[in-house]
Amino acid sequence: MIQIAPSILSADFSRLGEQIIELDKSGADMIHIDVMDGNFVPNISYGTPVVKSIRPLTKMTFDAHLMINEPSKYVEDFAAAGADIITVHWEADHHIDRTINYIKSFNVKAGLALNPATPAELIRHVLPELDMVLIMSVNPGFGGQKYIKYCSEKIRQVKELSEKYNKDLLIQVDGGVTADNIKEVVDMGANVVVAGSAVFKNGAIRENIAELRRVL
Ligand code: DX5
Ligand code: ZN
Repeated sequence: MIQIAPSILSADFSRLGEQIIELDKSGADMIHIDVMDGNFVPNISYGTPVVKSIRPLTKMTFDAHLMINEPSKYVEDFAAAGADIITVHWEADHHIDRTINYIKSFNVKAGLALNPATPAELIRHVLPELDMVLIMSVNPGFGGQKYIKYCSEKIRQVKELSEKYNKDLLIQVDGGVTADNIKEVVDMGANVVVAGSAVFKNGAIRENIAELRRVL
């Protein structure tokens, strides 16, 4: 079963609550929450107050993608705000093993994200500890960018590693996924697909999610 995780970075923030409810009704599986600090990535988005305010609207899994430096400083706050999965970047933390275990100490699932140029092999030793690996298929910071082709091979590599070291792993792909390439991403081994602009384009959430499912 392939999960679709709409990124609310592309939502209409003046109607965020309504759109969360619409995502729920349209068969989205989790809400992907892109947190940016203007430091690890060249953009600033939103933080725990937004997570807290939308938490009562749905039971869907909240998947917090922290594109921030020193993520461990904020893990407790995101767990308290209602995140179900907290994903940190390999490139943003010096002590990934410690941070993964720290996330899990709050009874939250732990994800590890890799930028496009970061090799898949780096996850090997922590793989048994992880609930999810996020393969970035654009350089993080902005929605609406073009899928980077070579990331398809990385998805396949992560899939192979997961078969050896963690069969239950969620393999998430994030960035530039549309109805034109979602099939390829899933064929390579992804089981959770993030989509921002492809879900929110023209404000037609229900139709856009249906189209992604149809291609799958
Ligand atoms: C990029 C974010 C992505 C992005 C996805 O930094 O992590 O989640 O918003 O948006 P699209 O699907 O438009 O590339
Ligand atoms: Zn993301």
